[in-house]
Amino acid sequence: MTEDLSRREFLGVGAVVAGASLVGTPIIPSSSPARRAPQVAPSNRVRFGIIGVGMQGSSLLAESIKFADVECVAACDVYDGRHTLAREIVRPDLPVTRRYQQLLEDRTIDCLIVAVPDHWHKQIVLDAVSAGKDVYIEKPMSHNPADGVAMVEAAKRSGRIVQVGSQRVSSQICAKARELISKGTLGDLMMVEAWLGRNSPSGAWQYPPPPDLSPQNLDWNTWLGTAPKRPFDPILFARWRAWKEYGTGVAGDLLVHLVSGFIVMTGLNQPPTQTMTVGGIRRWKDGRNTPDVQLVQYYYGDLPVSMRLNLGTSIEETYRFHGSKGLLEVTASSVTFSPQVGTDQSPSYYASSFPRALREAYFAKWHAENDPRPGQAPLSEVISFRGPGYNDIRPHLWNFFDAVRTRKPVVEDAVFGHNAALACHMANDSYYKRSAV
Ligand SMILES: NC(=O)c1ccc[n+]([C@@H]2O[C@H](COP(=O)([O-])OP(=O)(O)OC[C@H]3O[C@@H](n4cnc5c(N)ncnc54)[C@H](O)[C@@H]3O)[C@@H](O)[C@H]2O)c1
Repeated sequence: MTEDLSRREFLGVGAVVAGASLVGTPIIPSSSPARRAPQVAPSNRVRFGIIGVGMQGSSLLAESIKFADVECVAACDVYDGRHTLAREIVRPDLPVTRRYQQLLEDRTIDCLIVAVPDHWHKQIVLDAVSAGKDVYIEKPMSHNPADGVAMVEAAKRSGRIVQVGSQRVSSQICAKARELISKGTLGDLMMVEAWLGRNSPSGAWQYPPPPDLSPQNLDWNTWLGTAPKRPFDPILFARWRAWKEYGTGVAGDLLVHLVSGFIVMTGLNQPPTQTMTVGGIRRWKDGRNTPDVQLVQYYYGDLPVSMRLNLGTSIEETYRFHGSKGLLEVTASSVTFSPQVGTDQSPSYYASSFPRALREAYFAKWHAENDPRPGQAPLSEVISFRGPGYNDIRPHLWNFFDAVRTRKPVVEDAVFGHNAALACHMANDSYYKRSAV
């Protein structure tokens, strides 16, 4: 097909759909040559569709349409209230549908942003890449390890771009830390720890369901997908993260961010070798079946890594990299390296157990050999970077749209997303089995 024809076809489609609600109506006829790979229009404008316009999807949508030469041309959600929301964000006549397959069939769509609950990630990504679409899929990439394997294979087989939505990967803060670590500032890396805590109902996902939600404006059956059938439940719709049938608990929701940042900063793009987890449902006993406190110990090769999540006490998201030459602390908006010399700064306190004559002789010798000359005492140099209010979603989305246009690799491909998600699945597996995984 020539670019001219593809352009005409897209213009024709645009004219048909403008102003019409597409609930139950194909965005383009199913007889169209939909399964061919799309291409970015000659104008270089990236045309995207969005699947899932909930809490995260709506924010990705609002951010994406701010980019020049990036346009949202259709939105899909199984809840009609989110069609209204998408139209409020983009334009009143945005084509909307409950069936994501209609976006896959639309040849004028180059790529998709997918922000649906975790149990839907695999199927939509598999369908999208086989329909020739590039995909931005939210984190955690997979709902379980087998889904992740299938997604990596599908991405490889199709050659489509898959960017996973752990925005820490595009953080300038993490990039700064990575720079320091990779040039050996920390000396030998001894261990890594990271933590994150919240202390509020919303922080623990007790979200209010949309007040008008009903089986009339929501396709509940499709929302459930391959999960066990259950009667319509607005609480589940809003708070699905807390149940393992749809979500992945604090591991897939929050630990995945810590792990993704860790992978970027250390360059260890691999799954952990071993995981041991303890935790429990300590605070939010609302029927959930995933822990609200989870302490995870990993081996990454021989590197011990400890990550702790707590929905009962608030604590700022922080990493600490312990090295033989000092401590690197990373928060969402700062990087601070405090050097340590790694040698005794005073005579060994063990010598206080020597009898006086021996002790004094030892002290005198130590000072003579180690005290700096007057005026030459070294200063310790703390390195610190700050980026208050830094938004890492914007560069992460931009990296994706740019890759769609240029075909350059993205920063968080399916292999990276799979490795990060595997760390979370291993943490959950170890928690439920009460043994090392
Ligand atoms: N990167 C981040 O910081 C971040 C933050 C929040 C959420 N997320 C991720 O984004 C994803 C969505 O989370 P959320 O909080 O927006 O959830 P949400 O429940 O608010 O929104 C999900 C939307 O998907 C729709 N949906 C479900 N199945 C569908 C299907 N088959 N076809 C079309 N629409 C469907 C639902 O109706 C809902 O509107 C999750 O994977 C979550 O982990 C990422």
